[in-house]
Amino acid sequence: MSAYPNTSTVCQPLAVLGRDVEVPLVSGAKVTYAALDYAASAPALQRVWDDVAAYAPYYGSVHRGAGYLSQLSTDLFEQSRATVAEFLDLREDDQVVFTRATTDSLNLLAGVLPTGTEVFAFETEHHASLLPWRRDGLTVSYLRAPRSPEEAVAALDEALAGSAAGPRLVCVTGASNVTGEIWPVRELAATAHRHGARIVLDAAQLAPHHPVSVRELDVDWVAFSGHKLYAPFGAGVLAGRSDWLDAAEPYLAGGGASRTVAREADGSVAVEWHRGPQRHEAGSPNVVGAYAIASACRALGEAGFDALVARERFLIDRLRAGLAGIPQVRVLTLFGEEHPRVGVLSFVVQDWNSSHFSAALSAEYGIGVRDGLFCAHPLVRTLLGGEEAAPSECGAPEASLPGERSLNAIRVSFGAGTPDEHVDRFVEAVRELVTDGAKWAYRTEGGRCVPDTRRG
Ligand SMILES: Cc1ncc(COP(=O)(O)O)c(C=O)c1O
Repeated sequence: MSAYPNTSTVCQPLAVLGRDVEVPLVSGAKVTYAALDYAASAPALQRVWDDVAAYAPYYGSVHRGAGYLSQLSTDLFEQSRATVAEFLDLREDDQVVFTRATTDSLNLLAGVLPTGTEVFAFETEHHASLLPWRRDGLTVSYLRAPRSPEEAVAALDEALAGSAAGPRLVCVTGASNVTGEIWPVRELAATAHRHGARIVLDAAQLAPHHPVSVRELDVDWVAFSGHKLYAPFGAGVLAGRSDWLDAAEPYLAGGGASRTVAREADGSVAVEWHRGPQRHEAGSPNVVGAYAIASACRALGEAGFDALVARERFLIDRLRAGLAGIPQVRVLTLFGEEHPRVGVLSFVVQDWNSSHFSAALSAEYGIGVRDGLFCAHPLVRTLLGGEEAAPSECGAPEASLPGERSLNAIRVSFGAGTPDEHVDRFVEAVRELVTDGAKWAYRTEGGRCVPDTRRG
């Protein structure tokens, strides 16, 4: 009898691109690629791809053309905004700004914060939500890694209670890109608001896996990336309260953000900027990216998050049950292994360098995971229990021989398009590598761990 939960009660995976792609193994054989790095970039939903392809012949300029296709593209762009607003369950006065991705969204927000704003962020954040606040006119307080959701709320409460009155912003991630653990966003938002602070939710990892209701969570802003939401066309979103966005200088100065530009008698130029999303969308907007995000929002909404969450839980249980049977595997967790998570899990393997292990998963099994510190260096170092010198940003320390203590971790992540078979294949590959070792020798080349095919 299988140790795994019954598959018949959960929905089928959604169709994504690349599901039949074959990749070469170092042995010369070919296998279907198991994409288990959704947390970095998820494959495009087939539906998103089809929608974009259907729109492509009608592509035209946005907000400036008199022609039919320009008008159609402008309408689609604005409808995409409305679809995202619905997807996020925004309040009446909230606005949706299309950006390039979450990093861009949070940097945009950092640029509109009133001078003197104090920002509070846990040191466990992804660098995209840890670093944009380090600029003139803002101060940042980093809160130590909490070991339970209650500790997180208490730490924020204490920090805000001890802070000076004035504009304050809390930045929190909804689901960790390292552990996949879901953070107590609603409680943190309530705490922030009780102290008169505002809160932005980094939903880069939450939105692809879980419903995000701005109204219900009561956050002030939310940011996410299209390429993690099955819509890899270069767009992202910052959505939420208008007041600070409308009061600030535009993110980029240029056409589209300006309402009127007039030459003054003294030779200078006077500009009146738009209010609303256009203010921060100068230049030609990425209509394909926005449309793709809207298509993904519709597709996820139609599939239903109840079904998607149930399916993902099923895969998570399957993964955890499989890894639990391999004692050399240590899963990284802040809040405890039983804490609810999205389909993201990081681990280390006893006596293995993580880069070496991940390279073997790719070269010998055709399984794509990620190794490194995942752009969350303080968090991963806390979880690994080391304070070693940093490798390069988002990079991995040099891979070396098996047996050395790992300075980085392995991350497996999946989502709506993942078939059960990928998770099973992954668990079996981990078991085999741990038991039998890698079949090939590996070396570091150009910062990457690769099979050493020079031998023989
Ligand atoms: C939690 C989290 N926030 C922000 C980001 C940055 O997203 P992007 O690279 O799309 O800007 C990531 C990317 O991995 C992430 O996982």
